[in-house]
Amino acid sequence: MAMTPSISSETLLSYAKQFGLPLFVYDAQTISTQIANLKNAFNVPLFEIRYACKALNTIAILRHIYQQGCGIDTVSMGEIQIALQAGIPPDKISFTPSGVLLEEYAYAIEHGVHVHVDQLHVLEWMNEKYPGTEITLRFNPGVIAGGHLKLQVGAEDSKFGIHINQVEKIKALTDRLSLKIVGVHMHLGSDIGKSDSFDEAYAYVLKVAMQWKQTLKQIDLGGGFKIPYHPDDHSIDIESFGHKISARFKSFCEEIGRDITMIIEPGKYLVSQAGYLLMEVSGTRDIQQTGLAYVASGFNHFLRPMNYDAYHHILNLSNPHGEISPYDVVGYLCETDTFAHERPISKIRKGDVLCLMNAGAYGFTMSSNYNTRPRPAEVLVQENGEGVLIKRAETIDDILRTDLGYQSPL
Ligand code: LLP
Repeated sequence: MAMTPSISSETLLSYAKQFGLPLFVYDAQTISTQIANLKNAFNVPLFEIRYACKALNTIAILRHIYQQGCGIDTVSMGEIQIALQAGIPPDKISFTPSGVLLEEYAYAIEHGVHVHVDQLHVLEWMNEKYPGTEITLRFNPGVIAGGHLKLQVGAEDSKFGIHINQVEKIKALTDRLSLKIVGVHMHLGSDIGKSDSFDEAYAYVLKVAMQWKQTLKQIDLGGGFKIPYHPDDHSIDIESFGHKISARFKSFCEEIGRDITMIIEPGKYLVSQAGYLLMEVSGTRDIQQTGLAYVASGFNHFLRPMNYDAYHHILNLSNPHGEISPYDVVGYLCETDTFAHERPISKIRKGDVLCLMNAGAYGFTMSSNYNTRPRPAEVLVQENGEGVLIKRAETIDDILRTDLGYQSPL
């Protein structure tokens, strides 16, 4: 199946000219459509989407997602701060950290943000410092799933969540603490296309949740829903999956005798397909059968192909009807930074603008200043079709700002 951007090539090229390259462009309409798909698929009386903002957390994006009726899931003080700055009310924000210092939990609680806990010592500390707080417990479902080894976080030996062997101990502990267990949480991993894995994990978590059924108000089933990266790839069949999970959830509610809220925490599913990374071709080389196209970008701007061997579709916006031949698309960093290997792309020339698709999730948020390269600007195409600059490009001065320029005495 052909993969075509939701924004026309002409418009993307006009943004390249107007805002400069490299540039992230996001389509608000695509995000809204994905949210609507989820709302249709999960048909339970009490349902909430908490967007995992580690995927992309520019304030304008958070505001757009909140306006569609979603809350925000965060993992650090920084993310909480951004969500608050975006105007998201604290009761619409949750905090699902891993291995953080207690001060981060304190920050969340003191700002009225609901916390998810998966460590014993945190529970004991919280009970002392913030008695009576309503919290959610995060469990490890013990199911292996995810598009890449590094994206599988639900396996039994994973660092995330309360281990199956600790459930009894946690139950005994929470029985004697004043903390109120109002929620149970799990997150299986990312890029999961098979609904069977989710089903198995959800069944386990609902069983565990029974232990706290008196105080339970919500069950958070995490994120991880697959979207297509490759033209032959598939998305998770969200409708049939949502119906199946909703039926399971409804019978759980019947069993405990009241409705509780089903929460999901998608990141990728909401924003991945909405994003494009536009990059300028700095040069080409055609001494081998596979051509080489250098772009003025690298894993400092987009890490997924290098970190997870992820496929990201690339189009040559400047020469859409050129002859198709195989290319290695590489970046400008002083180490291996291959965006695509032996990829059929229409003829690439110096100065062309390439568009890397599925750049919305874990693109900008995983970018860095490696090789002292500033991060790109970001543009949001609003639902009225107008493209607005939502973050300016960094400058070298921004990068230098934290260096104190210390010179040791001779
Ligand atoms: N909830 C929790 C607790 C999470 O840790 C995550 C992602 C999500 C929800 C959202 O997962 P999603 O729906 O986006 O799959 N950098 C990787 C993905 C790492 C995901 C980390 N946790 C990537 O680029 O594929």
